[in-house]
Amino acid sequence: MLDLDAKFPRHKLTFGPTPIERLARLARHLGGGVEIYAKREDCNSGLAFGGNKLRKLEYLIPEAIAQGCDTLVSIGGVQSNHTRQVAAVAAKLGMKCRLVQESWVPFADAVYDRVGNILMSRVMGAEVELVDQGFDIGIRASWERALDEVRARGGRPYAIPAGASDHPLGGLGYAGFADEVRRQEAELGFSFDYIIVCSVTGSTQAGMVVGFAPDGRARRVIGIDASGTPDQTHAQILRIAQATAARVGLNREIGAEDVVLERDYAGPRYGVPSDATNAAIRLCARLEGMMTDPVYEGKSMQGMIDLVKKGRFPAGARLLYVHLGGVPAINAYSYLYRNG
Ligand SMILES: Cc1ncc(COP(=O)(O)O)c(C=O)c1O
Repeated sequence: MLDLDAKFPRHKLTFGPTPIERLARLARHLGGGVEIYAKREDCNSGLAFGGNKLRKLEYLIPEAIAQGCDTLVSIGGVQSNHTRQVAAVAAKLGMKCRLVQESWVPFADAVYDRVGNILMSRVMGAEVELVDQGFDIGIRASWERALDEVRARGGRPYAIPAGASDHPLGGLGYAGFADEVRRQEAELGFSFDYIIVCSVTGSTQAGMVVGFAPDGRARRVIGIDASGTPDQTHAQILRIAQATAARVGLNREIGAEDVVLERDYAGPRYGVPSDATNAAIRLCARLEGMMTDPVYEGKSMQGMIDLVKKGRFPAGARLLYVHLGGVPAINAYSYLYRNG
């Protein structure tokens, strides 16, 4: 156990431990060779539909409060789940919120910039700026300009990078997640052999790599790249994992080989689903009533299904598919799913 709560302040934004649910019909459909469970991070909070960013933000917000900040400033694509969760947290804390939404996805649906995540961010009172820049998980000039603008107006911004990832505290949430899973495993009476997770900006997987390292499962965290820029995502996961390991006092080094990232499922590009992604979304929805989205979890679901079919996991293996949220974005793909 890393026992993060004893070491780092945490501002509660989530309900508590998220449920683990068995996906028996999906597993049976895939031949019954493995057991599949889902950890429902998509149901983790009452803050605007929740998701993985809230678990990360629980460790950033104490710093924002301690620094006397009054405005959360963040960045993402037009349909960013992250910025929607930042807007919800700002509302809950009585802070202002300034969001930069870049054109990361070349997807032309008539309602793309009006529904789903961006709709909710606007309703929750965030100041939303649309910027015509393509996909990049790195630090962006548009975000730095937004921070300067808040300062110029006399505000005190708290800077949250894309996905709350490239931040000194960004990996803590999902390092703590591993402790939560271990406690649930003790109750269930078994442990998971593989943890499947979608990766883009990297701190979710980075935290898990650190969190599962103490019991030898760092390489059992199977990241499914949804960025379409896997070299950059792999490098960012590794960098955040190494920084997080040092921060939490992990007594072993994290190396490049500890970051397992599957690269075959992000196509055709970030935010655009392939036919195989859409097939996975429909299969999971129709067998389990569990919705996934075309940007993130649809691709990790597609990856898990394909890896099971290819025999990547030994017979009897128990897989934990971590559902990180993101379903609001499916509304922005209304024409694509008009017939289901
Ligand atoms: C729903 C969803 N799944 C997966 C991810 C990927 O997580 P990370 O950016 O920490 O790699 C994100 C955010 O980017 C997300 O919003």
